Amino acid sequence: MAGSEQSKVRGETILEVDHLVKHFPITQGVALKRRTGAVQAVDGVSFELRRGETLGVVGESGCGKSTLAKLLMRLETPTSGRARLDGRDIFKVSGAELRRLRRNMQMVMQDPYTSLNPRMTVGDIVGEPFEIHPEAAPKGERRRRVQELLEVVGLNPEHINRYPHQFSGGQRQRIGIARALALRPEIIICDEPVSALDVSIQAQVINLLEQLQDEFGLSYIFIAHDLSVVRHISDRVAVMYLGKIVEMGTQEEIYERPSHPYTQALLSAVPVPDPEAREEREIIRLTGDVPSPADPPSGCRFRTRCWKAQEICAQQEPLLVRRAAEPHPSACHFAEPKHLVG
Ligand SMILES: Nc1ncnc2c1ncn2[C@@H]1O[C@H](COP(=O)(O)OP(=O)(O)OP(=O)(O)O)[C@@H](O)[C@H]1O
Ligand SMILES: [Mg+2]
Repeated sequence: MAGSEQSKVRGETILEVDHLVKHFPITQGVALKRRTGAVQAVDGVSFELRRGETLGVVGESGCGKSTLAKLLMRLETPTSGRARLDGRDIFKVSGAELRRLRRNMQMVMQDPYTSLNPRMTVGDIVGEPFEIHPEAAPKGERRRRVQELLEVVGLNPEHINRYPHQFSGGQRQRIGIARALALRPEIIICDEPVSALDVSIQAQVINLLEQLQDEFGLSYIFIAHDLSVVRHISDRVAVMYLGKIVEMGTQEEIYERPSHPYTQALLSAVPVPDPEAREEREIIRLTGDVPSPADPPSGCRFRTRCWKAQEICAQQEPLLVRRAAEPHPSACHFAEPKHLVG
């Protein structure tokens, strides 16, 4: 890991995201020069990530999870907002500092079938970060380092000259993880890392991620729409709806005492293995589609699908704050913890 080891305390804040906004302009007219609106993909997201923890990010398709990941990886430029890594604003750094930041934060993508270049050997794929950051390993050591990385993720180091198509989906995702580890980052953003894999393989990859976290003290932002997977791996969970975090708390708080109607609805759709608990569970069926992020509802964005909605919900945006009866923040005028079993 970069920097001095002594100063790193598990649980301290490593990444601080502050009112992050990404609006994609919608353009029309000659040469698409006239701006007619904006897709509010991420709209004022704030959270902190602590050293050694996993922050799960859940929400339906299109709610802005991948855009958030891309902003943090500096693959997209924010419309506004800040994010500080180890105290430095990641959107302001350049040159050597930006290179250091890029080493420190890596990403594992969703699709192991398309994210690996089919014409490169596994050795070249996992070793590619050393080409971009030659200072990370002297040329003569790289092959050995790549073999070590393959071993760390549970692959046979002798397969270093094979091509991606010679591996299964789960193995390919291990290759992606090895590449993400190459520069010894402190943070890995996992964007739906197991969604494309068979359920039987998902658990193996999740277990690997957990084991690597312990071994290297990694912090994860773990994005997924599958709430069961997120429950398993996360210490804390942020629930997103139409570009905003609507509820955030510890894994137990979110899964056992959700306060926001949207979280309650999402959880009511998760299969419960225990038959008794299943009987007690109320099924909440959300009506209507997710509104367009180019034209979100006024006030609370969830109100058009919410059974608790009143006049105030159309007029006043509920802020993500902790209310008296709640142990954790949620963005709802009528937030009320609901005890869930199972
Ligand atoms: N480059 C872009 N230009 C315009 N709109 C975009 C762009 N990228 C994303 N969007 C829009 O921003 C919104 C959020 O997209 P995003 O991919 O972040 O959602 P997501 O939560 O990752 O969804 P999924 O679960 O399907 O991966 C969507 O409405 C999407 O169409
Ligand atoms: Mg996505």
